[in-house]
Amino acid sequence: MRYTFKKILNELLKYKKEFITANIIAIIAVVVSTPAPLLMPLLVDEVLLKKTGFLTKHIDNLLGHQEAFVYILIVLFMTLSLRAIFFGLTIWHDYIFSKISKNITYKIRKDMLLHLSKLSLSEFESIGSGKISSLFLVDVATIETFLGMSISKLIVSVLTVLGVAIVLLLINWKLALFILLVNPFVVIVSKKFARKVSLYKKEENRTFEAFSEALSETLDLFWQIRASNQERNFIKRLFVKSEEIKNAGINFAYKSDVALRFSYLLFLGGFEIFRAASIFTVAYGELSIGLMLAIFGYLWVMMGPIQEILNIQYSYHNAKRALNRINQIFKMQQEPKYPHLKNPFKGSKTNSIRLKGVDFSYDNKNSILKDINIFIEKGKNIAIVGASGSGKTTLAQIMVGFYPLQKGELFYDEVNIKEIGLDVVRENIFLVLQTPLLFNSTIRFNLTLGKDMDDKMIWEALKIAQLKDIISSFESGLDTQVGKNGVKLSGGQRQRMSIARMILQDPNIIILDESTSALDIHTEESLFVALKEILKEKTVIIIAHRLSTIKQADYIYMLEDGQVIEEGTKEELISLEGKFAKHIGE
Ligand SMILES: Nc1ncnc2c1ncn2[C@@H]1O[C@H](COP(=O)(O)OP(=O)(O)OP(=O)(O)O)[C@@H](O)[C@H]1O
Ligand SMILES: [Mg+2]
Repeated sequence: MRYTFKKILNELLKYKKEFITANIIAIIAVVVSTPAPLLMPLLVDEVLLKKTGFLTKHIDNLLGHQEAFVYILIVLFMTLSLRAIFFGLTIWHDYIFSKISKNITYKIRKDMLLHLSKLSLSEFESIGSGKISSLFLVDVATIETFLGMSISKLIVSVLTVLGVAIVLLLINWKLALFILLVNPFVVIVSKKFARKVSLYKKEENRTFEAFSEALSETLDLFWQIRASNQERNFIKRLFVKSEEIKNAGINFAYKSDVALRFSYLLFLGGFEIFRAASIFTVAYGELSIGLMLAIFGYLWVMMGPIQEILNIQYSYHNAKRALNRINQIFKMQQEPKYPHLKNPFKGSKTNSIRLKGVDFSYDNKNSILKDINIFIEKGKNIAIVGASGSGKTTLAQIMVGFYPLQKGELFYDEVNIKEIGLDVVRENIFLVLQTPLLFNSTIRFNLTLGKDMDDKMIWEALKIAQLKDIISSFESGLDTQVGKNGVKLSGGQRQRMSIARMILQDPNIIILDESTSALDIHTEESLFVALKEILKEKTVIIIAHRLSTIKQADYIYMLEDGQVIEEGTKEELISLEGKFAKHIGE
């Protein structure tokens, strides 16, 4: 998918009824407002210079001959009414358009979010959250400005220019042609400036993005930074980025200002030339003084819309760049979409897993897993051991379908993952992460993730996870806030929170990736005793460094450099002594 102006136009056409209504309103508004500047100047001819004419003749027909002030009052009233109607209609028109444009940008944001939510993990790891948020905030807003103000104004502006052109042609076609032919030059020259300005805008956006990237990283890693006493360096880095924003901003602000003023100057120059031409036409007897004044008025009326059209060009260039940037999101690869053909998890308490010839690499260069062949029987507890960096976590993530397989096959109850669907797999296999991160919310939310759950169930899960005593000692209990990433809980408490979440989800298959590494041996022991009932009935994969953690494993795989180098029961492996001890901390 990609967002283009064509696609946006198609979105716009979904609001056909509103769009047509708004355009009809625009046409009426222009028709109503166009004669307004003509009326008063006609009185100059008809009342001051005493030539009989259109207005006085009609008023005389209706009311009989009148004093001068009656003509003036009537015409004043007509002019003011026309202007008031125009005012009301444009407000209505702007309202409809801003509603349409907000709906469209809402849809763009929604599509971006949807795409992000299905992004493959490897793409996700390569982008910064600062960049993404600047796309959502700055760039979508740029498009919104363009849509909201520009499109609605474009129609009124073009119609106004057209209306004025027609009136000018009716008043004096030679003078009108002169004005209408010279005017486009003003527009074209100004357009050249518009392109330049949008380049500076791009630079300003880039610096903004770099700043927001650095800022969010600094905030995310604040603890780390403080621990290594590096605040000053990081703040300095942010100062530099702020300064870049400032400089790019100044550059953009003053240069765009110069360009805008220059185009205004051009316009004013044109304005004076047209006035001179009008006086010239009067001098040669082809135009009355009243009509000349009317032309002065129309020049003024034209000025607004033409400036508006120029602004739309600036806005258009900005929006085009914003669209390109937003499309960076849509270019990012999503994870594969597997169809929901079979569901081996449904109706069964637990399932087997088979990995067949699985190879994996994060970067398509360094292979992390090499030809992994593992079969884990239904309901068995197995363990994976191996040195740090040997690929255990990677293997666990492959088993949950976090990363698509590059080579080999993955089966649950002998059904290929490609026939099950990643969402179904993740619903039924729970991977307790090595370093679980928590939401900056309550304990309750972190356990239920917003699902409606009975407090009794939650406490039951906390009891098994060996957290009941601690959490019931908190003043707010389940409603205690855990802080950013769960910092208000200890590492071991966070691990147990994740285990409690697993208990509540009640998955068919459980993978514990060093999920008890932060616990003391005693707490770990109590935890496994309490978990016994739950683990007994399920396929469980435990990844660990400690012998105590894998005590109840039926079978053990030993991983080295992404390869299974040994496998067997605990007794069999212990007999290997040296090799086993290398991978186990005891
Ligand atoms: N997201 C990633 N992107 C790129 N490379 C990665 C990524 N995650 C891990 N790796 C690399 O893959 C290799 C295996 O990492 P993995 O996390 O699977 O090891 P591990 O056995 O779980 O180690 P530990 O015992 O320290 O948790 C490492 O060399 C690591 O550099
Ligand atoms: Mg690991």
